[in-house]
Amino acid sequence: MAARILDGKALALVVRDQVAIGSAAYRLKAGRAPGLTVVLVGHDPASKVYVRNKSNGCRAVGIIGEVVNLPSDVSEQLLIDTIQSLNENPAVDGILVQLPLPSHLDEGRILSVIDPNKDVDGFHVENAGLLAIDKPRFVPCTPLGIRELLVANGIETRGKHAVILGRSQIVGKSMALLLLHKGLGGDATVTVCHSASRDVPELTRQADIVIAAIGKPELVRADWVKPGAVVIDVGIHPKDGGGLRGDVAFEEVAQIASAITPVPGGVGPMTIAMLLKNTLLAANLRLT
Ligand code: GUN
Repeated sequence: MAARILDGKALALVVRDQVAIGSAAYRLKAGRAPGLTVVLVGHDPASKVYVRNKSNGCRAVGIIGEVVNLPSDVSEQLLIDTIQSLNENPAVDGILVQLPLPSHLDEGRILSVIDPNKDVDGFHVENAGLLAIDKPRFVPCTPLGIRELLVANGIETRGKHAVILGRSQIVGKSMALLLLHKGLGGDATVTVCHSASRDVPELTRQADIVIAAIGKPELVRADWVKPGAVVIDVGIHPKDGGGLRGDVAFEEVAQIASAITPVPGGVGPMTIAMLLKNTLLAANLRLT
């Protein structure tokens, strides 16, 4: 069996069209375009690519995307002052501090300074708490994009067993909460695997839906997957000789799964589309 490809690139274009319509409507109401500011500390090449993709994405949908570049040896106080001035800037609806930060900066402390009503990444404790108590405001973009990909492709989650590889705050833990919510795209039975989990392949073989967010190239092999399962790959790793691969051995798993996301062109484009959607939501919430 060859799996159906879950095309995140195509769905992201649909979402972007919806955001473009929403941001035009916002402009009419507010007299200005929605605005997102990304704060980038240092010169990490991967982060630079991500940030460029985010600001290009903004431009394409009528959101003003600004980037604030700070040197890698920036003091914690200067970074906090920068965020506070964005909190107070009425033209800024969304603020995103690109991670990872250099090791001398306390990530938790920095993220807690962002105004939770402008926290379009959903990383502030207030937004993490709202998600945990089933009252989501800003949900982290990668899990939100995965849920949208599942729902748009008619993949049932209700009563299904989802096994998530990785317990990060950004992906694994937030994904588990979304899949546990009541309603469309939720109502799943969820298992979260991590570095101390025993016999992980035995657990993934029980899954109707496998979500791999473990950061290990091609860890998930064909014999980790139940025939007919849906496989979502969050990993992005450079391939020797160019190109990208994920946390899933795509060629062999695609022979077993019923549906699978490619890398690139699966989860990645959906993450950026959800950031644009969250920014529009932030702008509209501030209008009301
Ligand atoms: N670094 C890798 N992914 C992300 C993300 O979704 N948000 C932020 N702020 N940094 C990241």
